[in-house]
Amino acid sequence: MEVVIRPADELAVLAADVIEARLREHPESVLGLATGSSPLKVYQELIRRHRESGLSFARARGFTLDEYVGLPTDHPERYRNVIAEEFVDHLDWPAEQVRGPDGLAEDLIAACASYEREIKDAGGVDIQLLGIGSDGHIAFNEPGSSLASRTRIKSLTQQTRRDNARFFDGDIDQVPVHCLTQGLGTISEARHLVLLAAGEEKAEAVHQLVEGPVSARWPATVMQFHPHVTVLVDEAAASRLE
Ligand code: F6R
Repeated sequence: MEVVIRPADELAVLAADVIEARLREHPESVLGLATGSSPLKVYQELIRRHRESGLSFARARGFTLDEYVGLPTDHPERYRNVIAEEFVDHLDWPAEQVRGPDGLAEDLIAACASYEREIKDAGGVDIQLLGIGSDGHIAFNEPGSSLASRTRIKSLTQQTRRDNARFFDGDIDQVPVHCLTQGLGTISEARHLVLLAAGEEKAEAVHQLVEGPVSARWPATVMQFHPHVTVLVDEAAASRLE
């Protein structure tokens, strides 16, 4: 595991460098996309490079990590819409080449299995961008998630629903109760994991991720088993590293 400690702005540039290098050499790469605030500056940097130096996503494929269950197709907080708005719609990336779990499927269990198949059929994910929750979650794999888990339906914890209420007019009742999420086993199959974390509130999770024992209590610790991990953190998020 490589841990890089730099000012927050530089982290986005470093993550964008990893993605750009991969795309220039392999335009048909498969990228794993995260929502949330952590990758936003990476997306902005990649959009800039697309506009200014022609970095192309036209032949790439993308897979998002997770999705709320039941949000209507036009809901602004549906992760498919969020990723389109923040990233994909600003690039030459055909929308149909970026996929997410179908939180509106009638048969959600079948939708999870079909998402796993889609990732496999695409040849697996080359670079997976990740954020981390202050409780150590990655995607919607909350503490207690099996380290071998696959894409599945999960209930959101009250804490996550409270945290995410800020995107739903501050009203927790509008936050969905369930989500579909790639499992820790699914995420671990990506060939390169790139995790970004900034701010003091992530410091304990980063400490556990890098130095803690591997445990479902801190789901991100599963990354210690992975042969190619880059952890990009600012000073505050690194402040509890020994
Ligand atoms: C988003 C996701 C979440 C976030 C995590 C950190 O698709 O899967 O695990 O990465 O909650 O969120 P931010 O980046 O907003 O601090």
